[in-house]
Amino acid sequence: IHKKIKSICCIGAGYVGGPTMSVIAQKNPDIKVTVVDLNEQRIADWNDADLSKLPIFEPGLDAVVEEARGRNLFFSTDVNQAIAEADMIFISVNTPTKTYGAGKGMAADLKYVELCARQIAEVATSDKIVVEKSTLPVKTAQAIKSILDNTGNGVKFQILSNPEFLAEGTAMTDLANPDRVLIGGDQTPEGKAAIQSLVDVYGAWVPQAQIITTNLWSSELSKLVANAFLAQRVSSINAISELCEATQANVEEVARAIGMDSRIGPKFLKASVGFGGSCFQKDILNLVYISKSLGLNEVADYWEQVIIMNNHQRDRFANNIVSTLYNTVSGKKIAFLGWAFKKDTNDTRESAAIYVADRLIDEQAQIYVYDPKVSAKQMQADLNYLSTRTETENAKYLQTQTDPYKAVEGAHAIAVLTEWDEFKSYDWQKIYDNMSKPAFVFDGRNVLNQEALEAIGFQVQSIGK
Ligand code: UDX
Ligand code: UDX
Ligand code: ADP
Repeated sequence: IHKKIKSICCIGAGYVGGPTMSVIAQKNPDIKVTVVDLNEQRIADWNDADLSKLPIFEPGLDAVVEEARGRNLFFSTDVNQAIAEADMIFISVNTPTKTYGAGKGMAADLKYVELCARQIAEVATSDKIVVEKSTLPVKTAQAIKSILDNTGNGVKFQILSNPEFLAEGTAMTDLANPDRVLIGGDQTPEGKAAIQSLVDVYGAWVPQAQIITTNLWSSELSKLVANAFLAQRVSSINAISELCEATQANVEEVARAIGMDSRIGPKFLKASVGFGGSCFQKDILNLVYISKSLGLNEVADYWEQVIIMNNHQRDRFANNIVSTLYNTVSGKKIAFLGWAFKKDTNDTRESAAIYVADRLIDEQAQIYVYDPKVSAKQMQADLNYLSTRTETENAKYLQTQTDPYKAVEGAHAIAVLTEWDEFKSYDWQKIYDNMSKPAFVFDGRNVLNQEALEAIGFQVQSIGK
């Protein structure tokens, strides 16, 4: 008979842990959910009475936090206490790509995950179900298990894999109505009981038919594969966008035509300046790294091509700006609309905007960025993270504006890097009047009305048209 969960701890109050636990708490008022993090500022922000200060911007998140916080949802820095009192512990810490040593630039850095496992091993005095929530390479559960099983304190652990499939910007609706919930675990009686305990947590709001259970490895691998397939669709349509630009075809017409084939489907066929986000590149690099280490070179090369195509799409966008502006952008003001990796999020990890800016700054362009949700500090940090030049130099070339009309004033060109809805309803006549002429627009997201802009006088270039 499986255990009814009364207390959950989640280690990591980030983009995944925060929203996911908020919804679990909202839907399970009888379960105490404590989200812990080492980052004191982050926890203070999660606890702020002013809900606009939540550390993550996600439409609808504030209402759920307001409903559950203080009732059965808590945010704390006391990691040990939360571990001690929980019967189920989610590990939802970051797993960035390694920046040193073997597998540098490809393998996931598991040091934060391992630290969590060691801390759980040290603190636990009662049996626990430990759930992997972070995106992890296949067989991480085995590593966690071996750390936990060698504590010698008699505590029994079950490890589950429960990958998160939410997309940022739509996290709350994705969590409330998931396509599926995936739970992997040992196929032993104890493993199956642990799986059932977690099935019950989701069963509070997800129909049973949408909760699928597998063995541990299938679950871990499915997460990587889902993201690899999604990213591959974007790279596939982006490859076609370049072909469309070289011919008289229009990528939106092509996407519509192929998407109506029910075997292909209409979603995720939007050509763009390139995908970003914390998952796609990292997960594919993981897949490539795992394949290579198993000697599966053709498999590795196949998936690596998705990344190569994405890098090419970003470079191509930047290079096109330079060549269109008469082969020089030196000293020219170029306005960026958007910096986040997609709309409705303040997350900028791996955003195409960072790479396009870096390339244009190499050409000595002056970049003025407006993004409705990203701070100036974050933009500088993103650019500095590439280590292309000194922080002082980056600051000289990258300016942030909090007013979009100021950002575009006097600009030689506007580049749309994120598909924020508000860009569509700007006063484009006013923008045109205040720009240098000819006034160029490079729409990296195909969100603007090209014909209307051209009627005003803009020279517009879109993706795949
Ligand atoms: C992704 C997966 O969708 C999600 O299931 C997983 O849990 C985490 O990774 P996320 O990265 O938050 O989610 O956003 P997503 O909507 O998948 O977009 C990723 C990137 O692809 C964005 O930069 C987006 O702009 C780009 N994209 C997406 C396109 O360029 N075209 C498309 O058609 C779709
Ligand atoms: C294909 C297209 O489906 C069709 O729309 C187009 O008009 C002609 O080309 P066809 O080649 O007749 O049709 O068969 P299809 O069912 O697409 O299968 C093609 C090959 O892929 C077959 O060898 C099939 O066995 C294989 N296949 C298909 C797989 O191995 N796995 C799959 O999941 C699907
Ligand atoms: P994700 O998108 O996967 O949620 P984030 O970087 O947004 O990634 O969140 C991960 C969080 O995990 C960060 O806030 C980080 O401070 C936290 N974290 C990392 N290691 C630990 C740890 N050992 N204990 C507690 N929190 C941790």
